Amino acid sequence: MRSQIAAGNWKMNTNIDFGQDFVAKLEDKELPKDVEVIIGAPFISISPLKQIAKRIKIAAQNCHDEESGAFTGEVSAAMLKSTGCNYVIIGHSERRQYFNESDELILKKILKALEHELKIIFCCGEPLEIRENNDHESFVQSQLENSICKLSKEELENVVIAYEPIWAIGTGKTASPGQAQDMHQHIRKVMRNNFNEDLAENISILYGGSVKPSNAKEIFAQKDVDGGLVGGASLKIDSFFDIIQSF
Ligand code: 13P
Repeated sequence: MRSQIAAGNWKMNTNIDFGQDFVAKLEDKELPKDVEVIIGAPFISISPLKQIAKRIKIAAQNCHDEESGAFTGEVSAAMLKSTGCNYVIIGHSERRQYFNESDELILKKILKALEHELKIIFCCGEPLEIRENNDHESFVQSQLENSICKLSKEELENVVIAYEPIWAIGTGKTASPGQAQDMHQHIRKVMRNNFNEDLAENISILYGGSVKPSNAKEIFAQKDVDGGLVGGASLKIDSFFDIIQSF
């Protein structure tokens, strides 16, 4: 059975004090037992947050694809693992767009992170012009087939997919529940065609893009939506807690 997941992505926001206060307060709340709660924190906050987090899992937002070496300023998967970090978000559209990350590089990062026993939140999603041309299904399919479809079935047990249409990120414009469901169903079909029914049914697929307390319930109620990857609304404890309770 696939798990229900509420994941926050703090992006390049927050500092250690904010993060520790947030996680301590969230840990004190009664979180629904069957929902996995994840916070995607800046690198610098991961270790301090891991010291407080019990129920809450911590994700990094990126890692390097090489084991170690002369890559000034970079953070390796092994370093992340040493903090106790649970997940790493790979392939976020902001990394693809602003840091020129290709499907090929993203696959290398995923393999390196899996080697170090980190779980993956793999992001995919189309830009506006692709959606307007009605090419979004084939666009996302190629993102999947160029990266996670090259993993083994066993490796995919440690991968969660996040569908984040770029036109819905930080814009306040959410995909309609029907648009989210259609794409999630399509993603499951791609996984079924590349692997099998079992794998397609058991992989969790999150929706991301302007998820907020007012729309989370309806989006999460869709048959193929297993939760959300939440940016802006994960920075306020009340709104993130509301979203966690929206399953
Ligand atoms: P927003 O929820 O702010 O639109 O961000 C979505 C996102 O990019 C999560 O990774």
